[in-house]
Amino acid sequence: MSADRMSPINGKSAAKRLVWGAPQNHISWAYMKELRENHPCMMFECNPYVEVYQFRDNLYGIFNQNCDGAGDVWMWLTVGPEKCLLVDTAYGLGDSKGVVDQITGGKEIIVVNTHDHFDHAFGNCRFGRAYCHEALVPLLQAQDEHMWDYLFDKDGNNRWLQFDRKDLPQFKPYEIIGVPDGYTWDLGGGYEIELINSNGHGGPGAAMYLDKKNKILFAGDNICSDVSGCGSVSFPIENCSLYKYRECVKKLVARIDEIDYIFPEHFMVNLESCMLYDVLEALDSVLADPEHNYDYIVTSVSGNGGPARSRYFKYIKGFSTMAYGIVDKEPETVPAAVRTRGK
Ligand SMILES: [Fe+2]
Repeated sequence: MSADRMSPINGKSAAKRLVWGAPQNHISWAYMKELRENHPCMMFECNPYVEVYQFRDNLYGIFNQNCDGAGDVWMWLTVGPEKCLLVDTAYGLGDSKGVVDQITGGKEIIVVNTHDHFDHAFGNCRFGRAYCHEALVPLLQAQDEHMWDYLFDKDGNNRWLQFDRKDLPQFKPYEIIGVPDGYTWDLGGGYEIELINSNGHGGPGAAMYLDKKNKILFAGDNICSDVSGCGSVSFPIENCSLYKYRECVKKLVARIDEIDYIFPEHFMVNLESCMLYDVLEALDSVLADPEHNYDYIVTSVSGNGGPARSRYFKYIKGFSTMAYGIVDKEPETVPAAVRTRGK
């Protein structure tokens, strides 16, 4: 084992890791290695790339290796009495709809997105329709058949993850339906799931989803045991994305009786909801004095020789870190499908 790389995880997925991006943290790595190598999962003939772990009677985590070098990613499937709801669609590698149909026996699928990033929404087109917060609609509309091109080099070789290119979707336009904060779906018999506009990671259209029956919050990428990147700080501070995310967390804390557990999109899951108090405490401290109330800074120069940029890290008590930048002006939210062209 070398000093600067994570050791391989031998999960059951047919996809094999070629290259990782930034190193991932130790607790997340140990957790995922233990889960994937020593705990039972379901595998499906129609899609050999995903590992399916059952966390509740009606909750399935569909685990996908990230097709680029970033962290592996969960899709969350909740099966209600009449319909099921799928939070995020990863890259769409393999027949993900086939897997969902087999688990649910073909129930109607409601697809929702936490945000539009590569590893969360590129598989939407397999399902024909996706719901999201209304501010996310234009970002999803930017998707096209070229958004997977960056996963391959100029000779057509896989850059980060080995899989068969023909198992990516054939892109076709699909219906995108924007809904407001608080919109609720009924999966049958009053089984409700609510969209909560979160801001932070993924921008103004980012959302969490609250399963009111299981009292589970699907938190997107704003809560992550590797590092939670929840937006930048700019001034006036009330307009910045980190402040807006803090407003969301404050509301979640006020609704703590409705939430027992948190299921993020990456790494550790089944987190106890009381951690929201610790997230709020970290946010309040950062927002009180972002230039001083951090724990450490990482400064890096981009590959094309731009100016050095500092990323500030703050510990969330008992958990991991939150990272933020301090910028002159809020960065424009560029659709992930467009950002692939610079990767
Ligand atoms: Fe992600």
